[in-house]
Amino acid sequence: MDDDKLILAIETSCDETAAAVIKNGNEILSNIVASQIESHKRFGGVVPEIASRHHVEQITVIIEEAMNEANVTFSDLSAIAVTEGPGLVGALLIGVNAAKALAFAHDLPLIGVHHIAGHIYANQLITDLKFPLMTLVVSGGHTELVYMKEHGNFEVVGETRDDAVGEAYDKVARTLNLPYPGGPHIDRLATEGTATIDLPRAWLEQDSYDFSFSGLKSAVINTLHNAKQKGMEISNEDLAASFQESVIEVLVEKSKRAAIEYDVKQFLVAGGVAANKGLREKMTEQFAKLDIELIIPPLYLCTDNAAMIGAAAFVQLEKKQFTGYTLNGNPGLNLERN
Ligand code: KG4
Ligand code: ZN
Repeated sequence: MDDDKLILAIETSCDETAAAVIKNGNEILSNIVASQIESHKRFGGVVPEIASRHHVEQITVIIEEAMNEANVTFSDLSAIAVTEGPGLVGALLIGVNAAKALAFAHDLPLIGVHHIAGHIYANQLITDLKFPLMTLVVSGGHTELVYMKEHGNFEVVGETRDDAVGEAYDKVARTLNLPYPGGPHIDRLATEGTATIDLPRAWLEQDSYDFSFSGLKSAVINTLHNAKQKGMEISNEDLAASFQESVIEVLVEKSKRAAIEYDVKQFLVAGGVAANKGLREKMTEQFAKLDIELIIPPLYLCTDNAAMIGAAAFVQLEKKQFTGYTLNGNPGLNLERN
């Protein structure tokens, strides 16, 4: 159909090189992700220089694969979209420059997308968004409650004051000598253990929607350290289960409270930690009791991908919010800018 609008989207903000072709903001024609996890694993985290180098090597191949799998040519496209920020500056620049070159060569509009807007719009690939809505964003770099009264309008009502939840997962996992990224490993261990260890919950001020996970992370590290000094055995499974219970209790309670106070029609969960089995179960159980539709993307749309960037870009395409060739990678990009 001639009216169909196709976007080629590119994502290189961290350690996945990704490209996707999205139709009308909600249909995936292709979604290619090249993960670099194996290269970063031995360093226990993402090494920015290595990430940039891999992006340079992969980007052309991944874009070509996305175009081929979607069976489209550049003349079929309505725009090129790319993650503008936040993320690692060197990594962002690879995607931004590839997008700029393609937009220039094929005379297509260029759209700069906020990475978190992408995570939120991953949900639009599952179902139509209904406003007002609230999203719990839980990733390696972000923990936020984001309110939206309409498409493209983001209001951060709460955020972490220290570590992002994914970061806390990865640090606790590292202490337990689990491989990077540690989130999925803690999640798995948690199902094998029982939450018998008393760990803190950071509720902060009574009406606050902010989060804090550094105290919990330190409490886990101290618990392990003290047990070691006393020569006591501590079960990694029970520690993982206790940590996960503490994280989930706070995330779910604050999500419920925000959903009710803002009287939303939908509640979304977004970001890599949305893949967490325990969080998905607890959110589903608790939101079933409220009359609010809960949407959690399938696992392949929770972690970084370009399909979500294409979905978010469609809103900007409809509003003709294009970026000129001055587009640059912006590690500190603000979600509320629109
Ligand atoms: O959204 P994402 O892919 O990248 C960022 O934008 O940060 O999120 C990556 C984060 C990592 O910290 C990883 O450990 C965490 O998501 N993660 C999980 C799970 N799967 C991925 N954390 C807890 N449980 C999981 N199942
Ligand atoms: Zn992400």
